[in-house]
Amino acid sequence: MPYSRIEILPSILASNFAKLGDEVRNVEAAGADALHVDVMDGHFVPNLSLGIPVVASLHKATRLPLDVHLMIEQPESFIPEFVQAGASRVLVHQEATAHLDRALSMIRELGAEAGVVINPATPVATLSEVLDKVDTVLVMSVNPGFGGQSFIPGAYEKIRQLNEWRRRYNSSFRIEVDGGVDRANVALLAQAGANSFVAGTSIFHAADPAAATRELKQLATQAVSLKA
Ligand code: DX5
Ligand code: ZN
Repeated sequence: MPYSRIEILPSILASNFAKLGDEVRNVEAAGADALHVDVMDGHFVPNLSLGIPVVASLHKATRLPLDVHLMIEQPESFIPEFVQAGASRVLVHQEATAHLDRALSMIRELGAEAGVVINPATPVATLSEVLDKVDTVLVMSVNPGFGGQSFIPGAYEKIRQLNEWRRRYNSSFRIEVDGGVDRANVALLAQAGANSFVAGTSIFHAADPAAATRELKQLATQAVSLKA
């Protein structure tokens, strides 16, 4: 079951891009489970970040799975290129396409894992028709576009709802959370049912990113075993 495993996904948006290879090797050695890669188009979100060449370079530089978060309109136009570049997980926003089912099927047909993302204002119920077609549901706990924002607590209830759905239908999608995740909330998020934790600022702006990665993993793992 993918969801029984706690995963820490450092978000490279908060890293020092001039030293990207070193930053990645450091968190990889510390036990990071995948790298979270934020792609922004200046339309779906009011910011630009990185794109296909960076994914291709990362693919050569690390053995970690690349969890590619597409904050772009009409993501289906670019999905094949991201998979070709080495994205092992591709996540598209529910709000970014009129053809969510098509986009998710396309990702799986290309051999990658499919993920769907919901913004803070989007209810979990909007995903009812696609939950059997995804490997990951990503709950945004900030409005996407920037690192370093404050966590929005509404994410807890959405994670609980998704966890309940997962139990009821015996599904195995991961529940991932992205935005403002840190040592203060990771345990509560794990208890609510999240198992994949994206962390940018709390890892790469920490004095010791490797120690921060280990600490987040330990706190989340402990929280789940205490609850069980
Ligand atoms: C925000 C991005 C996040 C961001 C998280 O739009 O999707 O992945 O890097 O950064 P922190 O952990 O700093 O909130
Ligand atoms: Zn992200």
